[in-house]
Amino acid sequence: MTSFLVLNGPNLNLLGTRQPEVYGTTTLSDIEEDCVAYGTEIGISVSCLQSNHEGELVDAIHAAKGTFAGIILNAGAYTHTSIALRDAISSVELPVIELHLSNIHAREEFRHTSFIAAVAIGQICGFGAAGYRLAIDALSGHLK
Ligand code: DQA
Repeated sequence: MTSFLVLNGPNLNLLGTRQPEVYGTTTLSDIEEDCVAYGTEIGISVSCLQSNHEGELVDAIHAAKGTFAGIILNAGAYTHTSIALRDAISSVELPVIELHLSNIHAREEFRHTSFIAAVAIGQICGFGAAGYRLAIDALSGHLK
């Protein structure tokens, strides 16, 4: 069975209570459960991981090679700072969908820059928690 990794970065463990006016009230475990359930519905095995640590996210991307067909990545604030995450994605050559709950382009200027965008197959942002299902569909469509 095709497997996807849903990888969430710093502060996303606080979803539900973190700035709900920006990120909504859905918790990360709700999102993760929904991703797994949606995967089951469409015949894709979904695994989820969250870390607040850049190096752990790099390790997770490395470890994904050979196990997962692709990655859905919400790198949180590391999106705007991390050359290490970008290099990790380039190194494993797995398809990555960049995901954000909020519309980063409609927010502060520093959020308009993404180090991930150039090495992702595409970006989904602004659709809140629903974006994760959109990303699963986008990744499976890309792999067909
Ligand atoms: C985010 C957007 C980032 O700018 C921010 O640092 C986050 C969350 C989002 O999902 O909208 O932590 O990735």
